[in-house]
Amino acid sequence: MHVVIRPTATDLARLVADEVEALVRDHPATVLGLATGSSPLAVYAELRRRHQERGLSFASTRGFLLDEYVGLPRVHPQSYRSVMERELVAGLDFADGAVRGPDGTAADLDAECARYEHSIVEAGGVDLQILGIGSNGHVAFNEPGSSLASRTRVERLTPQTRRDNARFFDDDPDAVPATCLTQGLATILDARRIVLIATGKKKARAVAQMVEGPVSARWPATVLQWHTDVTVFLDPAAAQHLEVRERYDEVGRSVGARPR
Ligand code: GLP
Repeated sequence: MHVVIRPTATDLARLVADEVEALVRDHPATVLGLATGSSPLAVYAELRRRHQERGLSFASTRGFLLDEYVGLPRVHPQSYRSVMERELVAGLDFADGAVRGPDGTAADLDAECARYEHSIVEAGGVDLQILGIGSNGHVAFNEPGSSLASRTRVERLTPQTRRDNARFFDDDPDAVPATCLTQGLATILDARRIVLIATGKKKARAVAQMVEGPVSARWPATVLQWHTDVTVFLDPAAAQHLEVRERYDEVGRSVGARPR
């Protein structure tokens, strides 16, 4: 796992956007894995800017969302499909239907999970997965206790995650749906390359576990240690509990976004 630490979220967003841009320019038919949450928003804003100012095109690119709340209609402003439409798709030139997410209103949720998992495989798999991390170490909605071999499924959110996400629901944790559909940890590990963005001290403990802790369902993001091509992009606050910081600083400084 590579660690890149930069002073601000804007610096991190530029590095991640550089990577997305290089991939999409080289391989327009790239498949992107797209996270919701606030962490990747600056990356999405940067991609929209590059589309407008430099003609970066996503016309042949496809995208798969990580997760979705159960029971929120697609048009609800906080459904993840709606958030992604607003934050990314509307400002870019994706073909209609090129960005998909699991349907949290499906009549048969288990069948929907299987269908979604299959649609990722059918698209050839995810080339570059963009991730955030929850303060309890979740990735997508794989909460502590998730099987490290899990696939797309129905999951219950922890009270901690509902409290964390209450800011999108008028600060009312009870208004945050209690169940969701989420890609599993093994589904995420199938991506060819993974970049994870974390900022702020609230993420520091989860980040330290993910990068340096023992692999454990207690901190689901630790499973990323099993992937051979992951870079974690951090600001100093999120990096504050890392123990071998000197090494990350040295490698991250000399080779930039993708230390080799
Ligand atoms: C949310 C999402 C995750 C996201 C994480 C962190 O609940 N399901 O995909 O990465 O929690 O969110 P944020 O970036 O807003 O801190």
